[in-house]
Amino acid sequence: MRGLCQRLVLFGALCLSLGFYVAPAAAATVLAIDYGADFMKASLMKPGLPFDILLNKDSKRKIHSSVAWKGEERLFGQDAYSLATRYPKDTYSSLKYLLGVPANADVVSYFANISPVTLVASSRYTLGIPKPGGRTWDIEELVAMQLAYIRQLASDTAGEPVRDVVVTVPPYYTQFERDAIADAVEIAGLKLLTLINDGTAVAINYAMTRSFAEPEHHIIFDSGASSTRATIVAFSADAKGRGTQVQVKSVGYNRLIGGTELTRRLRDILIGDFMKKNGGVDVRQDKKAMARLWKEADRVKGILSANTEATATIESLIDDIDFKTKVLRTQFEAVCKDIEDAFATPLIEALSNTNLSMKDIKSVVLFGGNTRVPMVRRNLEAVVGEGKIAVNVNADEAAVLGAALHGASLSRQFRTKDIKVIDVLPYDVQVAYEAETKATGPGVRPRTIHSIAFPAGSKTGTRKTLSFKRHSDFSLAFQYKSEPAPQFPVEFLEARVEGVAEALTNMSTSGASDLTIKVTIALSESGFVSVPEAIVYADFKDDSSIAGMLKGFFGDKGDKVAEGEVQEPMKEQTPRKPKDVTIPLKVPIKYTSVAPMALENKREARTRLNDMETKELSASMREEQRNGLEGYIYRTRDILEGSQDHPFMQCSQESERTALKQKLEEVAKWFHDHQDTADTKDFIEKRLSIQSIENPIQHRYQEIVDFPEVLNNSQKWNFHTRMFLTEARQNLTEEEKTGTQGKYTIEELNELEQTLREHEAWLHVNVEKQRTVKHNEDPAIETKEMKERADKLELHLKRLVQKKPPRRRATSSASDPSSTAEPSATPPTQADGGEKVHLHEEL
Ligand SMILES: *[C@@H]1O[C@H](CO)[C@@H](O)[C@H](O)[C@H]1NC(C)=O
Ligand SMILES: *[C@@H]1O[C@H](CO)[C@@H](O)[C@H](O)[C@H]1NC(C)=O
Ligand SMILES: *[C@@H]1O[C@H](CO)[C@@H](O)[C@H](O)[C@H]1NC(C)=O
Ligand SMILES: *[C@@H]1O[C@H](CO)[C@@H](O)[C@H](O)[C@H]1NC(C)=O
Repeated sequence: MRGLCQRLVLFGALCLSLGFYVAPAAAATVLAIDYGADFMKASLMKPGLPFDILLNKDSKRKIHSSVAWKGEERLFGQDAYSLATRYPKDTYSSLKYLLGVPANADVVSYFANISPVTLVASSRYTLGIPKPGGRTWDIEELVAMQLAYIRQLASDTAGEPVRDVVVTVPPYYTQFERDAIADAVEIAGLKLLTLINDGTAVAINYAMTRSFAEPEHHIIFDSGASSTRATIVAFSADAKGRGTQVQVKSVGYNRLIGGTELTRRLRDILIGDFMKKNGGVDVRQDKKAMARLWKEADRVKGILSANTEATATIESLIDDIDFKTKVLRTQFEAVCKDIEDAFATPLIEALSNTNLSMKDIKSVVLFGGNTRVPMVRRNLEAVVGEGKIAVNVNADEAAVLGAALHGASLSRQFRTKDIKVIDVLPYDVQVAYEAETKATGPGVRPRTIHSIAFPAGSKTGTRKTLSFKRHSDFSLAFQYKSEPAPQFPVEFLEARVEGVAEALTNMSTSGASDLTIKVTIALSESGFVSVPEAIVYADFKDDSSIAGMLKGFFGDKGDKVAEGEVQEPMKEQTPRKPKDVTIPLKVPIKYTSVAPMALENKREARTRLNDMETKELSASMREEQRNGLEGYIYRTRDILEGSQDHPFMQCSQESERTALKQKLEEVAKWFHDHQDTADTKDFIEKRLSIQSIENPIQHRYQEIVDFPEVLNNSQKWNFHTRMFLTEARQNLTEEEKTGTQGKYTIEELNELEQTLREHEAWLHVNVEKQRTVKHNEDPAIETKEMKERADKLELHLKRLVQKKPPRRRATSSASDPSSTAEPSATPPTQADGGEKVHLHEEL
């Protein structure tokens, strides 16, 4: 708890106001992942662990969002990213661009500009990457591998399997993209608590340490690797005044303007420069050279953020040509002229969706590495004014920390500052269905009706009911009102309402009037649109006449609920009368465009990943044992061939050393012949075969080392016991003189004396024996036994020391309740941590 507070103080948070509290119930661990196009950041919230960014094995706080194949082995993070310059086609980065994206989308051709990786369309018409000489991996699977890598890291840190995760996504993510990341999470063996829009997560992090007496509007301006977005957030105290409400008002975004685009343009400067200097050499055809140029461009871009010029240097870029060139910031900015204004546009758009103007905005909170680029900052300042820019959250980590806090509040295992979050859907979602028509025959085409189900700006985590007057099954197509991104489909799912006719017949015959089909639609906290249920709902009016029943049967044209009309929210409807009856209908879902992965495909993918993890784990265990044995052979050999003064030599006999040498040579030969084929078990067995000879020698040495201290301990207890006995016997004599009842009887003291004498005698005999034992002989007396015997004496002494004093005579103590209670001054008992009992008379 103290550690937790200390870390939080580093974030400027007050532990008290946060009120972190570890629930007594089974403690849950929550993982948060900010999966970016360049880097992923993770944070772990577990009772007892400091709340902080999860570090990887190299103690890095951000981990490259990369995965690479090195043969059958997979590499992650920096290892994977670095491999790109040698194996550009086997290293996959920036996969975030491709999650849930239809194979023909514009972003796919954009990706070809930044990555040499070959993409193919999957059976679901999303994307996959063929492994050279292997199968094609869906983007979801490749992202899942990276999430699983984080899961392992988190589990190692937490010391237990971590399952529950919150993942950040850009607010513009469509249902397709949300499905894709959710599928990746599942394949990675994680359980998605919720998706959270990244700007919202930053807002939560912002609210963590602040309170809002008056409502305030701020804009979270987030420019990352792949995109730039602005989130307008209203912060206020909640109704009770105890918690904070974080309400997203509107978002604006540009999907392709970000750090990657700037790097791409800088790389193109380098390409142009190289080609100009080395006429005829088309570096663009060389994937390794392109990968190195990308890396260098990224580095130079970083330098140009703080300097007005930088030098790019790549040795032997292609055909042994060294490349060196100077890049000016002005030169870089000149090639970005056309997109300069695009950085602030999301903010202007977000603002225009609301009735707010810049003067209503208290500050523009910067997040994302790209906000460090001077051009981006300048453009933003020009629009919002310099005074409004705030650099008061961690530009790399605020989102993942906010997401973790949100996850902790969802898991209810932590008591965190109460932050209520309201987010919005950025797109108009409409439902399309065919009008029911009485006319039939060729050429009669039913009219398609469109009705807005969730308008842009709808709050997430809400439900609505659509009402229909229908006599047969029908379909509802859920669509974005317009293309959510270039070449994305508009329709994302179709719900078929089935069993209508049968249910209607059934109900009408029971005399129901006014039959309505009610379809519940939901917009989840994670931003998914779904159709949880459909029912036939009958209102039994008191009109039980034949006419009334018939009216019900044919449907009441005077009904107030219009076809497809949206009623919201469901819970605000008048409660159903007890006589009302409902029949549930089936609502199977069909994906008519880009489908999420089918359950069985996800299971297969999960199994594949598991198998790979198991294989890699056993390979690394084998490697560990192989290396262990090899090192062991060398070390032991060195000792045997080394100085005679080495304790090992002192403690061993000639015959033992000969046997050990023989065994060692035998194993060394085996190792030489079999190290490539042997398995983990073989290495362990060989090691044990050497150890069985070495162990007795080791043991002798250890005994010699341990002996003095153990003997000291035994003597200490002899001494203490002797002191105790002397004093107690004196007391007893005093008590006999005065006729009072003492704490100990003479028998008790004699018994202890007996134990002491036995211990002293045993120790004496054996210590004498041990004096004659040579270093290379087995000890006459084992320290283990010495400890046990000393413990026995200690225990006996302790029993007496802790003994309750005898009851005083009833006459004098009847009114004294403390007399029968625990003695007021009990000697300290054995403390935790193996500390020995402290005797009150200890000297
Ligand atoms: C903006 O104000 C107008 C007029 O007061 C109102 O009708 C409209 O709903 C408001 N829009 C938003 C997004 O608040
Ligand atoms: C029709 O009603 C009967 C009696 O209430 C019931 O047992 C049956 O399951 C209903 N059928 C359907 C399709 O709801
Ligand atoms: C034995 O213990 C005493 C007192 O704790 C200490 O001064 C002495 O150095 C110890 N001797 C050995 C051999 O550990
Ligand atoms: C001996 O008596 C004194 C005085 O009552 C007491 O403090 C002490 O604990 C006694 N010692 C033993 C070993 O009982």
